[in-house]
Amino acid sequence: MNQENIKKLKQLNLSNMASYYQDYNDVKEFMTLDFDSRLAVLLDFEINARHNKKIASLAKKANFKMKPDITTIDFSPERNLNRELFSVLSSCTWVGQGKNLVVSGATGTGKTYIASALGYRACMFNYKVSYIRVPRLMLDINISKSDNSYNKLMNKYKNVDLLILDDFGLAKMTAAETRDFLELIEDRNNIKSCIIISQLPINNWYDIFFDPTLADAIMDRLQSNSYKIELKGPSKRGILTNNID
Ligand SMILES: Nc1ncnc2c1ncn2[C@@H]1O[C@H](COP(=O)(O)OP(=O)(O)OP(=O)(O)O)[C@@H](O)[C@H]1O
Ligand SMILES: [Mg+2]
Repeated sequence: MNQENIKKLKQLNLSNMASYYQDYNDVKEFMTLDFDSRLAVLLDFEINARHNKKIASLAKKANFKMKPDITTIDFSPERNLNRELFSVLSSCTWVGQGKNLVVSGATGTGKTYIASALGYRACMFNYKVSYIRVPRLMLDINISKSDNSYNKLMNKYKNVDLLILDDFGLAKMTAAETRDFLELIEDRNNIKSCIIISQLPINNWYDIFFDPTLADAIMDRLQSNSYKIELKGPSKRGILTNNID
């Protein structure tokens, strides 16, 4: 009877439930529960296992460089990271509402770390996330123009719920790059969210763009409806050792 049930659960694509049922069939604490409670345990197990699989798949697609746990964030006063703001951001209600987050600060202050922790958190809330460094994005866009995959590439980045653009402003954008960047931002504006990470303070961003009119258009879209984190303090990269890292 038991083996038959396991087979049927697998047929119904309830393999997590089947394995729990198989493993706990001999466990007294489980078997002494009433029918409803046992069914609830099995259903919860299936739901949790599917949820975890979905998170892992979203995080893989997001292409994070790091996946820090949100509980490891350092709120030392010298970092200028507001705990209340961070708690609001961790709730992820802003994601997908067209609200943005700008993270600025000197090298090593933990910008990528914080943005990745929030990005991973968004995956936990079932949002589609994509992490990319802006220099890499610009390179990919340029390549896509020569192999006719431009629309496909742009749609990929236009459609995710949360787009994390790291290392923004490392180099000045060309005219074409500025136009592509505006197109991406324009299509997401007020609908989908971005985290933009830069070593430069936001007031210096105008100079990154090729053309002042396009710069105004981009900055207007990025700044409206945006949360801001300006990290301060020493680098978190630690003291150099003889180890090759
Ligand atoms: N809260 C933290 N707890 C532990 N380690 C941290 C924390 N924040 C950052 N780090 C570590 O410090 C190092 C630098 O962090 P990160 O790469 O996020 O800096 P960054 O501001 O993005 O620097 P850059 O501008 O050079 O890209 C990383 O190795 C990261 O793992
Ligand atoms: Mg970084």
